[in-house]
Amino acid sequence: MARILAVFNQAGGVGKTTLTRDLGFEFATRGSRVLLIDADPQASLTEFLGVDADSLEASLFDALLHDAVPTIVRVHGLDVLPSSIDLAAADFLLAAEIGRELKLRQVVEKISASYDLIFIDAPPSLGNISINVLVAADEILIPVQCEIKALRGTRHLFDTIDRVRTLNPKLKIAGVVPTLLDRRTRLNTESYEVLKNRLGDRLTVFAPIRRGVAFAEASAHGVPVHKHAPTYDGIADIRALADALEI
Ligand SMILES: Nc1ncnc2c1ncn2[C@@H]1O[C@H](COP(=O)(O)OP(=O)(O)OP(=O)(O)O)[C@@H](O)[C@H]1O
Ligand SMILES: [Mg+2]
Repeated sequence: MARILAVFNQAGGVGKTTLTRDLGFEFATRGSRVLLIDADPQASLTEFLGVDADSLEASLFDALLHDAVPTIVRVHGLDVLPSSIDLAAADFLLAAEIGRELKLRQVVEKISASYDLIFIDAPPSLGNISINVLVAADEILIPVQCEIKALRGTRHLFDTIDRVRTLNPKLKIAGVVPTLLDRRTRLNTESYEVLKNRLGDRLTVFAPIRRGVAFAEASAHGVPVHKHAPTYDGIADIRALADALEI
């Protein structure tokens, strides 16, 4: 059975999607059967992997709302369940569905036997899709930007996770991933230390992922950072996180 990790934080632009892509690729190169699910209507993960979602036979929207078997695309040695713009309506339409929180879980249950690892990239919101992501997952990986203001949002985040546990009692927090760390900036480094101290007593805080232009460039090219810049030393951060996740 696959281990299912949601990459979740309702804060926007903290590096969730980039991390999902590169961690997924890292595990695929280590020999795991990996599926990446893009559950964000912005479809960034789909784009960051260079997948064209315009001609899918059945989209995630069709799967969530009409019980269709979604089209899965193979790229860069891993499988992707892409997102498309119609998913934007799903958040609203799910509200009228019976068992609306369980829809993604049902989709995932049908396909999970083919994988060792499934990562679900969540949108930066607390709407119906995000609840679906948290109900479908075994564990949550929480990217948090190395900034003091990031800590303010975490209480809200943990409240949400606690509420979702009524629907998914086994949901675990795998840990917090400090992201976008720029060690050249003192404020940034200090923020990382504060984050580690404040959250570290009750949660695993993994080693940080550095800020580096290669990550953003890789997205523009629609490839994992490993493929864009094979000798880039920031890839070591992704590898260290993969090691720490003990998969
Ligand atoms: N390690 C990194 N170094 C430099 N830039 C990064 C890094 N990770 C992500 N970025 C850039 O930061 C921006 C936000 O990243 P990303 O889309 O991965 O975040 P997100 O949390 O998924 O955003 P959203 O909440 O909109 O889904 C993007 O422009 C991306 O290229
Ligand atoms: Mg994203």
